[in-house]
Amino acid sequence: MNLAIIGTGYVGLTTGTCFAEVGHNVVCVDNNAKKIDMLSHGEMPIYEPDLEEMIVSNVSAGRLHFSTNLAEAVKCSEIIFIAVPTPPHEDGSVDLSYIEEVSHAIADTLSPELGYRIIVDKSTVPVSTGDRVSEVIARYAPDEVDIDVVSNPEFLREGSAVSDLMNPDRVVIGADSQRAMDMMKRVYQPFNAPIVEVDLPSAEMIKHAANSFLALKISYINAVSAVCEKAGADVEQVAMGIGMDKRISRHFLNAGLGYGGSCFPKDVKGFINIADKLGAPLNILKEVEHINNRQCERFIERIRQKLWVLRNKRIAVWGIAFKQNTDDVRESVAVKIIRRLCDEGSIVTAYDPKAAESGALALQGYPVTISQDMYECTRDAEVLIVATEWRQFAMANLPKVRELMRLPIIFDGRNIIHGENAVSAGFEYHSVGRKSLYPAK
Ligand code: UDX
Ligand code: UDX
Repeated sequence: MNLAIIGTGYVGLTTGTCFAEVGHNVVCVDNNAKKIDMLSHGEMPIYEPDLEEMIVSNVSAGRLHFSTNLAEAVKCSEIIFIAVPTPPHEDGSVDLSYIEEVSHAIADTLSPELGYRIIVDKSTVPVSTGDRVSEVIARYAPDEVDIDVVSNPEFLREGSAVSDLMNPDRVVIGADSQRAMDMMKRVYQPFNAPIVEVDLPSAEMIKHAANSFLALKISYINAVSAVCEKAGADVEQVAMGIGMDKRISRHFLNAGLGYGGSCFPKDVKGFINIADKLGAPLNILKEVEHINNRQCERFIERIRQKLWVLRNKRIAVWGIAFKQNTDDVRESVAVKIIRRLCDEGSIVTAYDPKAAESGALALQGYPVTISQDMYECTRDAEVLIVATEWRQFAMANLPKVRELMRLPIIFDGRNIIHGENAVSAGFEYHSVGRKSLYPAK
């Protein structure tokens, strides 16, 4: 099938590439000419595992194209996916101006001669956005155009987006016409995944409810981790013990510094805002947000307790990205911690395997040094903080780190370092929701 994706970011680029991989003809459109130019020359604007190879092979097979020309893409494609940003406003409501702009631009290019078109909302949007998109099309397109608007939310996780897209647990399609539903099912037929066929508002609601539930799971285990610290219990053992119950499951029960990224913080806020507006408040999600913020504060407080004063302390931070396997630093808890430490006058050196560049931009104006080497980053440090769950931090040569650091103190905000190994290397080891470990005197 001929498909267009409008918005070539983390979501649009990976989605479009995976559609091409299963045999569709795809054009990825973006209004950022620099990005399109890079992609057209085989350069990657983002880091996402396995994506580059897949782009290269699909471009050379002639199935994947990049363009800034939205009108041309609409002309050539039976289905147009919208994957542009939906950032939060100050009050938590969702900024839908990009969706409106793109819908308007699509409407301008539609004509009865073009034939039937499906416009699909891929971006995370508040319930009833689909109706709004239909209204915009009806307002600006000629009367006789034949279209349907569909909701098809994405569930990909950055860092494993390709594998999430190629092997989805389910595909949610919200459509109010059987014709649109049938065509959408043809798009996803090669993926061999269960398809959840629902009406449009229910599809939009599934996305809110799914992401907020995952955020709730993380906040739940983080709240439990605070109790574990007081009670002398081990949150990792607790997560294992409750996660083996299939009704609960171990996934998304990793205690740590809280969730970040471009989705959970924004989606939880958005869902709270919509529910309030609809007169059915979701106070439970207000607590989820509160726990998430507290988790990072508690961690900084524990470091302060240890060092007494943070000013002029040399602190090494491993991790800048909001999670492992990505260069994305949007709403990254690691960035938040680095900023807080800088504000307190600490001397911070940070390292991230992929987010050095994006991290430097996010930390502009903060006197942080970005190190190119994870070991050099720790030289003369008085504390090492692990802020992102990169696997290479879990595998670190701790005796080497011990030799480089001034004081032997690790604060592992992601519970990924083996505590006994840290102690054997001479460190005192502090983590989340577990007893601190100290070397024998
Ligand atoms: C974004 C949203 O954050 C998410 O809620 C939604 O589900 C999908 O889109 P992401 O792909 O991570 O997710 O965003 P980003 O990497 O910023 O990519 C968006 C792209 O859209 C950018 O390349 C931007 O240049 C492009 N864009 C934006 C357009 O092409 N047209 C516009 O009008 C606005
Ligand atoms: C999320 C959803 O998982 C995906 O389905 C959705 O469509 C987009 O948003 P993403 O934000 O890319 O994906 O990554 P995810 O793996 O969900 O992690 C989000 C945040 O939660 C990260 O900061 C991560 O460190 C944190 N996290 C995740 C935890 O703290 N504990 C966990 O157990 C899992």
